[in-house]
Amino acid sequence: MDRTVEHYERVAATYNEHWTYNPDYVRGFSHAIADALRLTGSDAIADIGCGTGLYTRRLYEDVQPTRPILCVDPVQAMLDQLPASPGLRPLHAQAEDLASGRVALPDDRPLDAIVLKESIHHMADRQGTFDGLVRLLSGHGRVLIIMLPKSIQHPLFAAAHERFQQLQPDPAEVADMVSAAGLRSSVSHRTFHATIERERYIHMLESRYMSVLGEFSEDELREGIAQFRHSYRDDPVLRFDDHFAFVKGSVPPR
Ligand SMILES: C[S@@+](CC[C@H](N)C(=O)[O-])C[C@H]1O[C@@H](n2cnc3c(N)ncnc32)[C@H](O)[C@@H]1O
Repeated sequence: MDRTVEHYERVAATYNEHWTYNPDYVRGFSHAIADALRLTGSDAIADIGCGTGLYTRRLYEDVQPTRPILCVDPVQAMLDQLPASPGLRPLHAQAEDLASGRVALPDDRPLDAIVLKESIHHMADRQGTFDGLVRLLSGHGRVLIIMLPKSIQHPLFAAAHERFQQLQPDPAEVADMVSAAGLRSSVSHRTFHATIERERYIHMLESRYMSVLGEFSEDELREGIAQFRHSYRDDPVLRFDDHFAFVKGSVPPR
């Protein structure tokens, strides 16, 4: 956990700049979240591992829930980037704290919808934590786990792709975890088109914008970026398909 916290503390200030391939990307993604969870204004929503709230703020604008969205993250520097808004309620905690009851939900009201966007891979005891989160759901609760597949098309260097594949959980296993927690589960796939200037992307690599890049020493990263520069020397603008698995779970009718 300490390594993860260190990583996100380091990238927090520039996270929004780095992860916004372009504004349409973020807008399209938030619509897809609202749509997949069928969110309505009366839902009590939590975004667990919300980071800087890059997507949560858009989600709030899209759905306009009457209750603020609970924005949960263990890295204070990430939460510090949340815009001050009556629609976003920060909670400095790990998913595990909520799951175990160490940290209570504000107002003790069950949640109707939980978003876990690119945070599930950070949880060590995934099933135990997820089971605990499911206990926080209302009778019509839904969960959406958004994750990258095991193999991605990002223009990373070869060693980063290999390491990513070793670390990334398989969405099919995550769907099994959702079923094992007693929810009805399904997996679908979405593709978002990313466009980014090569030089900006190099800056993102240098800043270790994906947590997998935190696995490399300074020298290894420099070597990887040199390989990247060579591979993309003729492409001033990079275009790639960003595929995501949307693993959904819903409380079965009683
Ligand atoms: C890749 S970022 C995703 C942030 C945000 N969901 C987004 O899509 O922009 C992963 C986030 O998960 C958070 N995180 C790491 N470990 C966590 C844990 N045990 N419980 C909840 N969040 C965690 C990190 O602090 C970080 O903000």
